[in-house]
Amino acid sequence: MTRITVFLVLCLSIFTQNALASVLAIDYGSDWIKASLMSPGVPFDVLLDRSSKRKIQSTVGWKREDRLFGSDAFNVAGRFPTDSFSSLKYLQAASYDSQSVSFYKSISQAELAETSRGTVALKRPDGTEWSVEELIAMQLAYIRDLAESAAQEKVVDVILTVPPYYTVQERDAVVDAIEIAGMKTLALIHDGTAVAVNYAMTRTFSEKPEYHVIYDAGASSIRATIVGFSSEGKKSSPTTLTVKGVGYDRSTGGTELDRRLREILVNDFVKKHKKDIRQDKRGMAKLWKEAGRVKAILSANAEAMSSVESVAFDIDYRSKVTRKEFENACKDLKIRFAKPIFDALSHAGLSLDNVTSVILAGGASRTPMIQAAVKAAVGESKIALNVNADEAAVLGAALHGASLSRQFKTKDIRVTDITPYDIQVSYNSETKSNAAQPRVINTVVFPSGSKHGNKKTLTFKRKDDFVLRLAYKSAPVPGYPTDILEVSISGIQDAYEQLIESGATDPVVKATVVLSESGFANFQDVVAFGEIKDDSLTGKLKSLLNNVGSTESESEKETEVRLSPSSTVASEGAGETSGDGKEKKEKEKEKPKDTIPLKIETKWSSIPPMTGAEKRTARDRLRTIDLAEAATRRKEEARNALEAYLYRVRDLLEEEGDTPFRKCSTEEERKALGKKLEDTFDWLHEDGDHASTADYVKHRTDLEKFERPVVYRYNEIKEFPHALNNSQMWNWQTRMFITEAKMNLSVEAQGGEVARYTQEEVDSLEKTLKEHETWLNEVVEKQKGVMYYEDPAVEAGELRERAKVLESALQRMVRKKVTRRKTTSSSSSSREGTKTGTKVESEPTNTKHDEL
Ligand SMILES: *[C@@H]1O[C@H](CO)[C@@H](O)[C@H](O)[C@H]1NC(C)=O
Ligand SMILES: *[C@@H]1O[C@H](CO)[C@@H](O)[C@H](O)[C@H]1NC(C)=O
Ligand SMILES: *[C@@H]1O[C@H](CO)[C@@H](O)[C@H](O)[C@H]1NC(C)=O
Repeated sequence: MTRITVFLVLCLSIFTQNALASVLAIDYGSDWIKASLMSPGVPFDVLLDRSSKRKIQSTVGWKREDRLFGSDAFNVAGRFPTDSFSSLKYLQAASYDSQSVSFYKSISQAELAETSRGTVALKRPDGTEWSVEELIAMQLAYIRDLAESAAQEKVVDVILTVPPYYTVQERDAVVDAIEIAGMKTLALIHDGTAVAVNYAMTRTFSEKPEYHVIYDAGASSIRATIVGFSSEGKKSSPTTLTVKGVGYDRSTGGTELDRRLREILVNDFVKKHKKDIRQDKRGMAKLWKEAGRVKAILSANAEAMSSVESVAFDIDYRSKVTRKEFENACKDLKIRFAKPIFDALSHAGLSLDNVTSVILAGGASRTPMIQAAVKAAVGESKIALNVNADEAAVLGAALHGASLSRQFKTKDIRVTDITPYDIQVSYNSETKSNAAQPRVINTVVFPSGSKHGNKKTLTFKRKDDFVLRLAYKSAPVPGYPTDILEVSISGIQDAYEQLIESGATDPVVKATVVLSESGFANFQDVVAFGEIKDDSLTGKLKSLLNNVGSTESESEKETEVRLSPSSTVASEGAGETSGDGKEKKEKEKEKPKDTIPLKIETKWSSIPPMTGAEKRTARDRLRTIDLAEAATRRKEEARNALEAYLYRVRDLLEEEGDTPFRKCSTEEERKALGKKLEDTFDWLHEDGDHASTADYVKHRTDLEKFERPVVYRYNEIKEFPHALNNSQMWNWQTRMFITEAKMNLSVEAQGGEVARYTQEEVDSLEKTLKEHETWLNEVVEKQKGVMYYEDPAVEAGELRERAKVLESALQRMVRKKVTRRKTTSSSSSSREGTKTGTKVESEPTNTKHDEL
C-alpha cells in the first residue's frame, strides 16, 4: 500500500496536463461501498467518510424527515424497518416479478412497488416511492460530496466496479444511477479485473504469462476471474493483463450466510417464545443486524452469544449460537463456494496446474467455511492473501480510471476483459411469398470469452426493410430475459438505388455490432454499401458478396450472414455506447461515397434503460430533497444562533458587579432589554418549533436593536484612546516636518541650498495641521464630560477619518517629485517647480513614509 502511495505521489507531480480533473472510483457493493479519489494534491488512498471510516455501509434511509447514509441509515432499520434501504444491488435492473426480487423480500422489510419500466421502486412509509436507480444515485451523490470536499473541486468522472456477470440491463442501471447523481461514467470495470490491476501495480512479470485466480467473495455473489499477467521484459514495457475466464455464483455470498444465520435465530425465537417474529418487521430487522454481528464473531470463535434487547413483543432475546450449528445450516452451500474457480478455469481452457496462486478478495473470503472450502479445493499452497480483501478492487479501479482519463501518469497496464455470455444477432429470413413463415436465423457475434472493445460487421444482401435483434443466446440467470434490443432498419431500397446510380454493383446492408470496453452491446453503424466498379477488385468482391444471403435455401443456415474478420476492427476499440442507446458515430473520415447510412429505430426488448426525460425527472427529485435539506440545515443554524444569542444576552444582564455592560448602559435600557429577552424566550418556547428561518433571524435582529447602543458605547470607549493616540501622532509628525521644511527655506533665503518645498506648500500644510489640532482639542474637551452610559461626543471612526486627512496632506508632500530648481534663476516661475524642460527626478517615494 505504501509503495503504491509513494509511486503515485511521484507520478502525480509530473502530470501531463495543467487542468487535471479528479477521477472517482467507487466499489458499489451490496453491503459496503468503498471509494477512492485520484486527484492532484490529494494522497491516493481510500476515501474516508464523515466519521473517518474506510468503508461505508451500503444503505440509504430516513429517520422521519432526516435522510441518512451509511451505518446511520443501517442502524435505523430496527426502529424504522420500512424506511431503511440496504442491499439495493440485488434490485438493479430486476423486474418486479423476478427471482432477485423474491430473494430481496426474504432479507429486507422494505415495501416494494413496481415502476412504469417494470423495475422496482421502494416505498417509504409516507407513501413516496423511489426507484432503485434514484436511491443508488443518492448514495453515489453522497460519495461524490465526500470526494468533492477532499478534492476541493467538482468531481464528475467516475469509474464503478461491476460483477463480470452483469448484463447490459444491469450495467444500464448502474450508468443511469451515476447520471442521476450528476456524474459521468468514465468506465465500468469488473471487480475481479480491478483487483488484478491493483495486484499488477506493484509487481513485475516476464514474457511468459503468469496466471492467477482472483477469488472474490462478496455479499451478493462469489466471482472467480482467471487473469494472465505478462510483460515484454524490459523495465519500460507495459504490463499486459488479460482476463482469460470468469466463473460466478450469483446466489451464494455473505448475504445468503446472513440470511441463514438469521433463520437460526428466528427459529430459535419462535421455539422459545412461541410467537411468530416473522410478522414483526422491527424484530426481523433487529435480528438481521444481529445475524451480521454474530456471523463476524463466529468467524473468529467457535460460539457466540446473541443478545437483542426488546427484539419484539417486549421480549429480550438471548441465545447461544455455535459455529458448528451455523455451518450445518450452510452445508449445501459448501460445494458452491469453490465452484466458480473451476468454472472460470474451464472457461479459460486452463487447469489448476497453470495457476500460480489463488488471490483471495472480498469481505466474505474471510469467512472460515468459505476459506476452508477454497483451500480444500485448490490446495493450501496456492492460496494467496497478498491483497487487501476490502480495498484492492476500489484501488485497482481508481488506478485504471486514472490511466483511462490519460491525465495521470501511472504504471502502464494494458487491460483486456471479456464477456461471459454468448451474444447473438437474430433476424427473420426473407420469404418468397407472404404466406410462407419466415425462419429465425441466429448468429452468435460475440461468443462467451469475446474481448471487450470489439466490433463485428454483419453483411446482408436484402432489399426489404428488416429487423435485427440483439440478445443473449441463453438466459444470463434462469428466468432472466435474454433479449437486449432490436433495431428496425428502413430505407434500404432508396439507398440501393442511389448507390447503383453512382455506379455501385450488388449493394448490401452492413451492420456493425460493438461490445464496448464497459461491456455494453449495441449496434453502432447500419449502412447500405456498394462497391464502386473497380476492375481489379470487382470479380473478387462479387463472388464474395454472392455467397452472402442471396439465396433462400433453407439448408444453408449460417451462410446467409458473413462476419468480417474481427481482427480488422478489433484494434480500433469500440468506444463506449452509453446506456440509452445513443450511438457514438465514428469520426467521419473521408467516408467513401459507396456508403449510405440507413435509418434505424432502436427498441429495448426487456428492461429499457431510463430515458433522458426519466433521468431528468429523477435528478430534479433528488435536487428537491437536497435543497429541502439545505433549507432545513439553514433553519437549524438560525435557530441555534438565536438561542445562543439569547443565553449570551441573559448572561450579560445577570452578571453582577461593574461589568463593562453595566457601565455602558442605563437602568432603563437594561429593563427594556430584559423585557424583550423574556418575550423572545417565550416566543421560542411557544412557536419556535414551527417558525421559519426568517422568523429566527427577525427575532434576533429585533433583540439586537436593544443591545446595540450599549455595545456601541462600550466599543467606542475601548477605541477612543487608540484613535486619539493616532491623531496626536500625526499632529506630531506633521509638526516635525514643517519645522524642518521651514528651516530649509530659511537656509535657501540666506543663499544656501535650494529648499525642497516652497513657502506656499509649507503654509498650506501648516494650515491643515492647525485646523486638525483645533478640532481635536475641542472634541477631547467635550468627551471629557461624557459618562460611560452616554453616547460619545465624537466617534473613534471620525477621529481616524480626520487624522487620515492630515496624513494624506503630509504624504502628498513627502511623495512629491523633486524639481531641482536652477540656482541661477530665482524667478517666481522657477520656484513653482513646474517649468517644462527641466530635469525631473523622482525620489524613492516610500522611504519617508516608512520612516514615519
Ligand atoms: C497448462 O498446463 C498444462 C499441463 O501442465 C500444459 O500442457 C499447458 O501447456 C499449460 N497451458 C498454459 C497456457 O500454460
Ligand atoms: C500611544 O502611542 C504610544 C507610542 O506609540 C504608546 O506607547 C502608547 O501605549 C499608545 N497608547 C495607546 C492608548 O494606544
Ligand atoms: C531639508 O533639507 C535636507 C538637506 O537638503 C533634506 O534632506 C530634507 O529632506 C529637507 N527637508 C524638508 C522637509 O524639506
